[in-house]
Amino acid sequence: MSDLVLPAERAMAEPGELGRFGEHGGRFVPESLVPACSRLEEGFREAWSDPSFHRDLERLLTVYAGRPTALTPAWRLSAELGITVLLKREDLAHTGSHKINNVLGQALLARRMGKTRLLAETGAGQHGVATATAGALLGLGVTVYMGEKDIERQALNVFRMKMLGAEVVPVSSGSRTLKDATSEAMRAWVTCVDEAHYCLGSVMGPHPYPWMVREFQRVIGDEARRQSAAELSTGIPDYVVACVGGGSNAAGTFAGFADTGARLIGVEAAGGAAVASGRTGVLHGFRSYLLQDENGQVSEAHSIAPGLDYPGVGPEHAYLNDIGRARYVTVSDDEVVPAVHRLARTEGILPALESAHAIAWVIRAAESGELPPFSTVLVTLSGRGDKDVATLMEDPALTEDPAVTEDPALKEEQ
Ligand SMILES: Cc1ncc(COP(=O)(O)O)c(C=O)c1O
Repeated sequence: MSDLVLPAERAMAEPGELGRFGEHGGRFVPESLVPACSRLEEGFREAWSDPSFHRDLERLLTVYAGRPTALTPAWRLSAELGITVLLKREDLAHTGSHKINNVLGQALLARRMGKTRLLAETGAGQHGVATATAGALLGLGVTVYMGEKDIERQALNVFRMKMLGAEVVPVSSGSRTLKDATSEAMRAWVTCVDEAHYCLGSVMGPHPYPWMVREFQRVIGDEARRQSAAELSTGIPDYVVACVGGGSNAAGTFAGFADTGARLIGVEAAGGAAVASGRTGVLHGFRSYLLQDENGQVSEAHSIAPGLDYPGVGPEHAYLNDIGRARYVTVSDDEVVPAVHRLARTEGILPALESAHAIAWVIRAAESGELPPFSTVLVTLSGRGDKDVATLMEDPALTEDPAVTEDPALKEEQ
């Protein structure tokens, strides 16, 4: 059981004054964005205490996004590893990842606040696709900022966004990934705060975003808690595991279990491990752990998974780490591709590269004995792998695998 169980009333509750989680969080924005952040906080507080807002959101999550998503026992993988693995299937949500939960919440809020446009950043393209989807659904214009490197490696999602009517703006500065796309989206927001809502895709950014996005993602943890109570004789899993980019799927999952004895494990990409290797700093309006060089400049992250290719981490994760309630571990690119293959072959589920980080850690920890035999482990499968097929096709492991290369259809494609 966990060393530190948070009492229900304190477990991932509202942040302290000015949106602080311990020493992390806050609102470090240019003067011109302060009123917009304050109005957003007011708007969210008002909506979140209004039962009709909850009713509208719940209805959309059910009849449009396909919630509740399944909790699937990973039967064959569990047998191979000698533990019980349960998969929280966010890959089954409309648009293919958990991002839709947050976006439907923010889009409804934007409409309620009289906004006519949504701005968003995206890395893996999943948040961009979700925002484009919600924009189409609610009749809001959508502009998505995306690094050029991510535009190349997530071409399928770029096409989907355009099909859904969104404008995709390529970002060519810096590492041409999520960090630069976020900077650009925030810059653009300054110029149109009156009509546009900045629909941020993770538990990062200035207050109230980390709190608000976690609340919109809490549905993952709340459902998983009910579902694991029905699935497990112990009611609560021993471990709850999720990948961490900015940290929204992990925060939403952890929120359902913070007041239990479950051990919470966040899995970062080794090349974007802000908790494991970062130092306190400020980026994109919030204070948290950040990858930095010796001069305090923000370093570039590197991950095969575009959604984890970010040098920071949401402030609540930094806090959960500091107080010892959650533990953060890392997985390297080399471990991720085999994890995708293993889940595909044992369970018939092709996970997103981001989600495969969580699977890779479970495999490693079970095989090394770090996860005791017969442990019960709930893993959030944050998204489906269709978007990553082009990256996977370049991987030598795939071309060397006779089961795959013998397929003439695939041979022709290579
Ligand atoms: C499928 C998937 N999982 C995880 C992430 C990481 O984001 P977060 O840490 O906010 O859940 C992303 C980000 O794009 C994603 O697309």
